Amino acid sequence: MAKIITVLGSTNIDKVISVPRFATSGETLHTPNHQIEAMGGKGLNQGVAAARSGAKTNMITKVGKEFDTSKNMNVENLSTDHVMVSETEETGQAYITVSAETGDNIIHIYGGANADMAAADVRAHEAAIAESDFLITQLEIPMEAVIEGFKIARENGVKTILNPAPMPENGGLPAELLQLTDIITPNEHETFLLTGIEVTDEHSMLHNAAYYFERGIDTVIITIGSEGSFFMRDNGEEGIVPAFKVSAVDTTAAGDTFIGATATRLHANLDNLAEAMRYGSAASSVTVSRAGAQPSIPTEAEVLAVLDAHK
Ligand code: RIB
Ligand code: NA
Repeated sequence: MAKIITVLGSTNIDKVISVPRFATSGETLHTPNHQIEAMGGKGLNQGVAAARSGAKTNMITKVGKEFDTSKNMNVENLSTDHVMVSETEETGQAYITVSAETGDNIIHIYGGANADMAAADVRAHEAAIAESDFLITQLEIPMEAVIEGFKIARENGVKTILNPAPMPENGGLPAELLQLTDIITPNEHETFLLTGIEVTDEHSMLHNAAYYFERGIDTVIITIGSEGSFFMRDNGEEGIVPAFKVSAVDTTAAGDTFIGATATRLHANLDNLAEAMRYGSAASSVTVSRAGAQPSIPTEAEVLAVLDAHK
């Protein structure tokens, strides 16, 4: 039976410009590429990744009145029944600069309708969360909404996945949120902001994991860019799932793809974590090789082709 995944999180319109290299503060630099617009937002990207990998996916998100859901969220398996419309704010925006040299990006976001999501909005979509195998959230919506979503998940025995991105500027996350989290998926920068322990080697990753175990989380996945991702469970199982080597065109949504795609493969008891992460890693290798966020996220067939080629 296909999995049901609910993603609670952001929707952004991404305004993307590809540049020869990043300019420095105060510098003016020419680019031969004009701006393109594409759908994004960490929440929607994770939802699209799950849906394209075959899970029935509920998207709990908030957009502006001007947003055309039937056009911009027209993705097979993605339910838009839980898309809310803000009375006051327009759809969130992301200004993304991609370096043509490395495929890396710099992103500035304006929250808009994403910032207008209250705990009560999430509670109104309780049924979507309750029917799911996993609930995935990130931090581009208000903390009260994230916490409410995880409370609903816990009340209904649904496993929670927290992608702590972006980390709040003031650092730290509420203890309550960590207690409600089953799986946390920071990248190396985010985990450093949370734990204060820099990711340098496997030993430092174990230290990072211990920090989360002490706070009630039982599974930790730290993504380390082109090196792949580290995982550890509180039963001591740990390892590194290497990334698939590709030449990076645009890394935007790579982490989002990894999370959404991994969740579609993961068993409820997490006994196939490394195998599910390998699927997620293959998915994100496709995302990295193509431009834009949502347009670059692969279908299940494309992911399976990558896995097949690496048998
Ligand atoms: O993770 C990538 C995403 O971050 C982009 O799509 C952008 O919208 C920002 O939310
Ligand atoms: Na991409």
